[in-house]
Amino acid sequence: MNFSRRTLTLAATAATLTLGFGTVSAQSYPSKPISLVVPFAAGGPTDIVARTLAATMTKSLGQSVVVENKAGAGGTIAANYVMKAPADGYTFLIHHNGMATAPALYRKLAYNPINDFEHVGNVVDVPMTLLARKDMAAKNLGELVSHIKANGDKVNLANAGLGAVSHLCGTLFQQSIGVSLTTVPFQGTGPALNALLGGQVDLLCDQTTSTTPHIKAGTVKFYGVTTKQRIKALPDAPTLHEGGMRDFEVIVWHGVYAPKGTPAAVMQKIGDAMRTALKDPAFVSRMAELGGEIPPAVRQTSDGQRAWLVAETDKWGKAIRTAGVFAD
Ligand code: MLT
Repeated sequence: MNFSRRTLTLAATAATLTLGFGTVSAQSYPSKPISLVVPFAAGGPTDIVARTLAATMTKSLGQSVVVENKAGAGGTIAANYVMKAPADGYTFLIHHNGMATAPALYRKLAYNPINDFEHVGNVVDVPMTLLARKDMAAKNLGELVSHIKANGDKVNLANAGLGAVSHLCGTLFQQSIGVSLTTVPFQGTGPALNALLGGQVDLLCDQTTSTTPHIKAGTVKFYGVTTKQRIKALPDAPTLHEGGMRDFEVIVWHGVYAPKGTPAAVMQKIGDAMRTALKDPAFVSRMAELGGEIPPAVRQTSDGQRAWLVAETDKWGKAIRTAGVFAD
């Protein structure tokens, strides 16, 4: 009798210690709002995914998941912030391919995306689109490439900084047509798309989560999607591949991360809430209408995201070293 009471007490203490919350138990987590940090400006594609996910996870967690935008340095400021945040289950990061490209792009990166975080899982895969301001005369990709080759010194390309997928896509585009354009960096493609809509910049590569409504409404010139196959959200839209840029492919994947050392019980609870959200019909259909696809179940897990990040770091690292694009 004494022995079993002591065993129970020890077990309870161990559970509390494992959680690292002092007197708070696994059952009471989360007991206050959770912050989901977005590494780009509000209104852009990462922000759209984050807010849709946060609202859906809030339903199953019974606590608010609050989106916090910490833009700058192509997403590396936010990743650094979350890496250093308390590992108490109340701060998470949502980020995309930038976690795989930053180690090759930044010579002095302060974190290791694979090893300095706990991995929750991948959330959604999103194609990109190549756009121009509405009054760009070129009617198709061929005409656009001819225009750029003839007037390259007058054409500029917006992006969200080194480490942003808009930068990656724009770099691959310039490489594939053999030009070097003036680039205009913003804190996210939300403000970059606004500048394109206002005619202040000429070109932008951005994700369908932001661009689909504008492509449908004809408020931008549209030249193709960055997947090899056409996408359901824009069935009539050509791909850049079929437009002549053979094998051009950029697919953006978004994933969720926690500071290293976040307790396993918290990771399980947040991971379960995220995977429940990825099955929520409203979340799935909202993502689908914006061109997003839910990744396979294995990538929705911690181990799956880690393995995916390792492979993507290798893939994009090679492409970046070949392109010779670096920051200090
Ligand atoms: C954003 O959310 O603003 C974009 O994902 C930035 C980018 O192009 O990577």
